[in-house]
Amino acid sequence: MKKAISKMKPPEIRTAGPTSALLGINALYRIRNDPLAYYQSLNSTFGDTVKIRLGPYRCWFIFHPDHIESVLATKASSFIRFEKIMNILRQWNGNSLLIAEGSSWKNRRRKVLPSLSQQRIPSYAKLVSRLAQDLTETIISKIKENGSYESSIDDEMAQYSLEVAYKTLFNKNLNTVVQPISEAVNCLSEIAYKETTSAFTLPRFIPTPANRKKKKIIKLMRSCIRDIVLERIEQSSKEESDLLSILIKHHGGNTSAIEEDVISLLIAGHETSGATLSWLFLLLAKHQDVQHKIQKELDNILGNTSASYENLKNLPYLNAVIKETMRLYPSAYALFCRRATEDVDIGGALVKKGDLVQIFPYITQRDNRWFKDADRFNPERFINSESWPKYAYFPFGAGPRICIGQSFGMMEVALTIATILQRLSLSQVESSLESAPRFSLRPDKNITISFSSRPQIERVEDQIT
Ligand code: HEM
Repeated sequence: MKKAISKMKPPEIRTAGPTSALLGINALYRIRNDPLAYYQSLNSTFGDTVKIRLGPYRCWFIFHPDHIESVLATKASSFIRFEKIMNILRQWNGNSLLIAEGSSWKNRRRKVLPSLSQQRIPSYAKLVSRLAQDLTETIISKIKENGSYESSIDDEMAQYSLEVAYKTLFNKNLNTVVQPISEAVNCLSEIAYKETTSAFTLPRFIPTPANRKKKKIIKLMRSCIRDIVLERIEQSSKEESDLLSILIKHHGGNTSAIEEDVISLLIAGHETSGATLSWLFLLLAKHQDVQHKIQKELDNILGNTSASYENLKNLPYLNAVIKETMRLYPSAYALFCRRATEDVDIGGALVKKGDLVQIFPYITQRDNRWFKDADRFNPERFINSESWPKYAYFPFGAGPRICIGQSFGMMEVALTIATILQRLSLSQVESSLESAPRFSLRPDKNITISFSSRPQIERVEDQIT
């Protein structure tokens, strides 16, 4: 990440916001229907700090990097994640790392961290590389069979990233026996989005069809995960190097804690990296020049050998493309809403105890004050000397609750794209890049891209320009 620029434009200390007619029902309606356009319009109309009423809550939308730093890092101890949202996720995540607060969170983070530490990444990378090669082979055989292959890319990447999460967690392949997990994970993301953006949801004990379906899915998923965890605990003498074995070791056999953290890693891990992969494929299909430049870099550095974790640091252009994709299309387009636990000054605005605070990577990362020609897809900005404030670019969040799977996520995305682009080229069937913000920012489900085989290369000597 680039260093803070020395002459950062000072934040505007206006704390205006839209009128709170009807307790902000209008705002809730707009958030539900077109959240990105609404957040953008609030930022353009009212500035860097926007005060808004949302139902019974007073809420602050914070857009300036200085203030983002205060909320996420320097004054992070004055905030917790908003309980209403966390209680929705708690239904299936329990009191996992994602949900916990205070000393309970610290304890969980310490226990989960070893399974995602930098030293573990190379061994997970071998599994990811294998899965990416399998996917490439499958696509190539479909092209051979039918002459072409068109993919509804978001569905394909959701399934692939779940397979990656499943394989690295349990060292098992996602097969039909565990289909309930696949269905549950996809379904719960949808439910989470609906419940967290609704002004009103019926209590869970009321047996509506939706509540009954949710209960059934959660029960099924938890029992599948429990079986896997118990089986592994029983075979504890068998040395396994997957994520689950390390979690079991550090959780000291506390089965419900293991189950909760497994579910949260499965969901948090696959949803975000799947969405990032979808955006990357779409951007590469649309920007053929960028795709060719990555392929040239791959051909130069790897020749005909398969991409591996060790190669990734020698692929600066590929890394720049991934970072630029995460700037324009951060899968966590809005961070989890926070609630102030005491009065706190954020850049001159008095955020009172109980107020909510919301931060949006999608908006701040597209601000022309920090990024030149901010809406343009320009990976070179991560290679050239362009610089921006540290907290203007934060696709993995920041501060103590920064994404624990950051190194894993970057490795997964880079290794997958490198493996596929070595053998395949992409082109877009439709020209639009519609986004459909759900629990994470995903492309519209109907966008299709077309794959074609690349000729096997001899070593290419051209330099990347
Ligand atoms: C491209 C991939 C990824 C992106 C963009 C991403 C993004 C994020 C962001 C923005 C947060 C912070 C949310 C907030 O502060 O409100 C977060 C937290 C988290 N992420 Fe990721 N993530 C990715 C991959 C992963 C992976 C692969 C895993 C697990 C294997 C993971 C597990 C988690 C967990 C458990 C947290 C909560 C950490 C805590 O509260 O201490 N993420 N992620």
